[in-house]
Amino acid sequence: MIKLTTELDEFITPAELEQKKTEAQKLIPRLKTDDMTGWVDQPIDYDKEEFARIKQAAQKINSDSDILVCIGIGGSYLGHKAVIEALGNGPDTLIIFAGNNLGPAMLNKKLELLEGKDWSINVISKSGTTTEPAIAFRIFKQKLIEKYGEEEAFKRIYATTDANKGALHDESVKNGYEMFVVPDNIGGRYSVLTAVGLLPIAVAGIDIDILMAGAAEEREQLISSDDNDALKYAAIRNCLLDKGFDIEILSTFEPELRYFSEWWTQLFGESEGKDHKGIYPSYVVNTTSLHSMGQYIQDGRRNLFETVLSFKKSTADYTIPHDPVDADGLNFLAGKELSFVNEKALEATVAAHRSGGTPVILLEIPTLSAKSLGALIYFFEYAVGISGMLLGVNPYDQPGVEEYKNNMFRLLGKPGY
Ligand code: PA5
Repeated sequence: MIKLTTELDEFITPAELEQKKTEAQKLIPRLKTDDMTGWVDQPIDYDKEEFARIKQAAQKINSDSDILVCIGIGGSYLGHKAVIEALGNGPDTLIIFAGNNLGPAMLNKKLELLEGKDWSINVISKSGTTTEPAIAFRIFKQKLIEKYGEEEAFKRIYATTDANKGALHDESVKNGYEMFVVPDNIGGRYSVLTAVGLLPIAVAGIDIDILMAGAAEEREQLISSDDNDALKYAAIRNCLLDKGFDIEILSTFEPELRYFSEWWTQLFGESEGKDHKGIYPSYVVNTTSLHSMGQYIQDGRRNLFETVLSFKKSTADYTIPHDPVDADGLNFLAGKELSFVNEKALEATVAAHRSGGTPVILLEIPTLSAKSLGALIYFFEYAVGISGMLLGVNPYDQPGVEEYKNNMFRLLGKPGY
């Protein structure tokens, strides 16, 4: 479903790309044998009983809650935030997010949103011990108990965590929260197609069967050929890195994909940025960013490359009206669709950036839908798995995030630090 097109001959020779692809192809078997590669088969090999329970829980939440507070950070936050922002939050239950920062003003604003509303909590933490969501959970749980009393409050708490261990697991068992599992062999940032992402996405009214079907279709396409586009994308990235292009910009012309870009940034940044290696991932949301970062991409240091998400068909449109006065001189666009102008902006930008010396990779996607988003999620998970191995790092751990935590605990006076 996802198609890669590119013209990179002035940066990478066909022989260099072939060599990198050959290296990458040799790594494919490790997608089955390495630890933490449960994401590879997740689109087809998921817990069907739990999947049905997710749908039931979503129905209950839709019937008794105006708001679902999703508490979680990193991989326990960004995937479902990305999908819900991209496809829209349905009318039944508004999803709001907490526990992904420590900002007091933001916390108070979120609490204000709950006044006079019926609400529930989905607390998501694989380890069950992450500070930001644990603090938020403590606060929101107390508010929920104040509103509903303990018995009803506990029926409104849905916990997504490890199947067997951790503080959140133990508390959930003790208090009888409905529990969902983060599989042992799937890391946080690869977990959007597990209960981590699926429950909030289903509560937002998005069809999780279709999302999974999109991922399954893409999986089938990628695993059935070792000359697939996700592997090629991983190979191109690493060839470009060898040539000094060490910053990648994910570029979208769909503003709904801002959080998808955040998810992508985490997926690539946390998977590859280790052992003093990696491509620094960043993103732009165009055409907005053309008026801020466009100058740098066109004409700043030549160490950037761009990966552009190009949707073939818009999901909505608006016809630009004729204006009898034509003060803005735009009547030459009257009768044209806004999507047509957006498309031309993309083409113009790609041409400009290429001529400015920025390598541009194009990823073509049919349209922005649950199906294509499922496919795109899988495409990038596969690509980063291969790309991380090509780089020679473990794409599934994140040892670097411990440093700030240890410092923070010491400064806060946590016993033992
Ligand atoms: O990708 C990861 O593993 C991390 O970003 C984690 O998701 C994040 O640190 C949150 O961890 P947890 O789910 O254990 O609270």
